[in-house]
Amino acid sequence: MTSTPHPTDLVDPFGRVVKDLRISVTDRCNFRCTYCMPEEGMQWLPRSEILTFEEIERLARICVQHYGFNGIRLTGGEPTMRAHLTTLVAKLAAIDAGGRPVDLAMTTNAATLRHCAHDLKVAGLQRLNISLDTLDREKFARMTRRDELGHVLEGIRAAKDAGFHPLKINAVVERGVNDDEIVDLARFGRDEGLEVRFIEFMPLDASDAWQRQQVVGQDEIVAKIAAVWPIEQVPARGAAPADRWRYLDGGFADGGGTVGVIPTVTKPFCGDCDRVRLTADGQFRTCLFATDEFDLRAALRNGETDAEIAGRIERAVGTKWAGHQINQVTFVRPVRTMSQIGG
Ligand code: 5AD
Ligand code: SF4
Repeated sequence: MTSTPHPTDLVDPFGRVVKDLRISVTDRCNFRCTYCMPEEGMQWLPRSEILTFEEIERLARICVQHYGFNGIRLTGGEPTMRAHLTTLVAKLAAIDAGGRPVDLAMTTNAATLRHCAHDLKVAGLQRLNISLDTLDREKFARMTRRDELGHVLEGIRAAKDAGFHPLKINAVVERGVNDDEIVDLARFGRDEGLEVRFIEFMPLDASDAWQRQQVVGQDEIVAKIAAVWPIEQVPARGAAPADRWRYLDGGFADGGGTVGVIPTVTKPFCGDCDRVRLTADGQFRTCLFATDEFDLRAALRNGETDAEIAGRIERAVGTKWAGHQINQVTFVRPVRTMSQIGG
C-alpha cells in the first residue's frame, strides 16, 4: 500500500474544497426520535449490504490520502449499535495521513456511551457530539420514544470522564415540543461546560410531516438566550455548520463558554460546505438533501483499484449542488431519512 504524500484538493463545481467525510456505520438505532424515525416498521439493511470495517477503512483512506481530507465523523443511525465499533475507530485512527492531522469524531445519542466512552477514547476517537433535545424525562421519552434520559446523562458524564473535550451537545428544536427549553438547555451547557448547539428542525423525518411552522429559526433561538445572558457572536465560522456565540459573563467555569446554532433552514450555510457522506451500505452522497447516490460498495466489491474508486469519488463531487433547496417550492425531500443517510 502506498500513501500519497501530496494529495490533490477535491474541488466541487462551485469552488468548495471537500475535506470532511461523514460515515454512517449502521442504519440501526436504539431510539425512535419522532423527527427521524417512525415508531415501528423500519426495515434494517441486511448485514451483507453493510460495508465491512475493511471497506470503510479503505474508502476513508482514499479520501485522506488522495484528496487530503482532514475530518472523519462517524454517524448512524446510532453508531454505537455497530458491534466492535472501537475496532473501526482504531483502524481509522491509524490511517497514514503523511503527518497531517485528521480529526476523528462521532455523533451519538449516548444511550450506551457509559459502557464505551473510555474504550472509544483509547482507540483514538478525538471528539464526540451528543444528541440531547430535552432535560425533561417525560418529554425525552415522548421525543425519542425511549425512557433513556438517565442513561444519556450518565453517558455525558462518562464522555467527560474519558477526557472528551470539548464536548458538544446537539439539540434539535421543534416548535411546540421543546422550544420552551432553549434557555434550560443553554443553562445545562453553561453548568456542565458543554457547547450546546441548537439545530433547526429539517425535513428529513420519516413520516414526511415536516412543516415550516415547526422550525424555530436561529434569530428566535439567539434572542431567547440573549434575553437571559449577554452574548456576542464569534466571527469566523469556516466550514463548520454552527454559528457560535460567546457568553460575555464567561458562561463556563473556565470562562470559555459558547453556544451555537445550526441554521440549516433559515440561514443555509451551503456556501461553506466541505462535507460529503457515505451511507452504511456504501452509497456516496454529496449532500444530506441530495437525491442522487453513487454506489461505492459495488466498486469495492467489483475489485476496482484505489485510483478507480478515487475517480468515482471525484466524479460524484462533480455533481455537488450549490446548496439545498429547502426554501424553494421545487424542493424534493430525499427518499431516505436522517437515520438512513447519517447525520
Ligand atoms: N432535523 C434536524 N436534526 C435532525 N437530526 C435527526 N433528524 C433531524 C431532523 N429532522 C439530528 C439528530 C442528531 C444529528 C445526527 O441529527 O438529533 O443530533
Ligand atoms: Fe436514532 Fe439519532 Fe434518529 Fe434519534 S435522531 S432515532 S437517536 S438516529
